[in-house]
Amino acid sequence: MAELRPLIDRLESQQMLSKKEFVTLLTGISAEDTKYLREKARRAARKHFGNRIYTRGLIEFTNYCRNDCYYCGIRRSNTRACRYRLSKEAILDCCKAGYALGFRTFVLQGGEDAKYSDDLMVDLIKEIKKSYPDCALTLSIGEKSYESYLKFYKAGADRYLLRHETANKAHYSMLHPPELKAENRKRCLFELKEIGYQVGAGFMVGAPYQTAEDIAEDLLFLKELSPHMIGIGPFIPHHQTPFADRAPGTMKQTLLVLGILRLMFPKVLLPATTALGTIHPLGREKGILSGANVLMPNLSPTTVRKKYELYDNKICTGDEAAECRSCLARRMQEIGYELAVDRGDYKP
Ligand code: SAM
Ligand code: FES
Repeated sequence: MAELRPLIDRLESQQMLSKKEFVTLLTGISAEDTKYLREKARRAARKHFGNRIYTRGLIEFTNYCRNDCYYCGIRRSNTRACRYRLSKEAILDCCKAGYALGFRTFVLQGGEDAKYSDDLMVDLIKEIKKSYPDCALTLSIGEKSYESYLKFYKAGADRYLLRHETANKAHYSMLHPPELKAENRKRCLFELKEIGYQVGAGFMVGAPYQTAEDIAEDLLFLKELSPHMIGIGPFIPHHQTPFADRAPGTMKQTLLVLGILRLMFPKVLLPATTALGTIHPLGREKGILSGANVLMPNLSPTTVRKKYELYDNKICTGDEAAECRSCLARRMQEIGYELAVDRGDYKP
């Protein structure tokens, strides 16, 4: 049955549908129409990016976090998490190794760790940008004030990743403790954009309590925000969180949402995430074949990899950065793509 093709064609031509139509697509699509949609998404990515996949070297520099998100393995209340933070020297070593391997974007990601004060972050950002002026620097360190975001931007940070997690207020409150608010998360995103960052938002597919309506609202919110990057991956439970017994998000649904996003935002930077590679051995390849165009392999030292455990069974925690890059290069080659040595900026 190919009954949703007119809707998919309209999504492609108008890059938008109504909330009700998105729900129809998310709940009623046949296997055949999913294939049709993913092929269109793949062609759209090919048109804008060719067969080149951008890479970002992810440096998970601290797993201390003041927040207590119910889904997250490094949440404050997980007293069994083994905490670490990397020194400036260790972070610069990661960049050095990454640069030699061909990375031209570094992503500093961590929990919301008060030990990394604004001054320390500014110093770190300046040092990285001085040492690697041809590289882009992305921050992913959570909710901060406008002033802090501005300081980091002035110090040289180029991009900021902050998934909005869910656009629906009621759903947000089911995933987070009361002190965390959907409005604040959204405020941060609009401020980051106003300051001039290339901004990434996103959410987990299959998060507990998520409905098709919630995902449709996420799509509408993303259209309103119009980010440069969109990070989506399946929710995967972590055994030491309140959501330990919840079902993970599925690959099928994640690939469908990736395809929809590519048709909504033909030029957006869209990663095939590590979480997608965790729920299926070929998850990242299938993500690329559904319209994704970015991979974010890990550059963190192998000694800390397992400690940045957001969810169970995370892949690539034992491999050196070089092994990860060559493994991904091989995987991409097998499906007709290649890793670019490029900053991979958003091109309007
Ligand atoms: N602290 C920063 C922040 O809040 O944006 C960055 C780190 S946070 C761990 C990065 C992302 O990991 C979150 O935005 C969330 O979507 C994702 N994440 C956390 N727990 C997860 C889980 N159990 N399954 C899949 N993704 C998860
Ligand atoms: Fe802070 Fe997950 S709760 S990074």
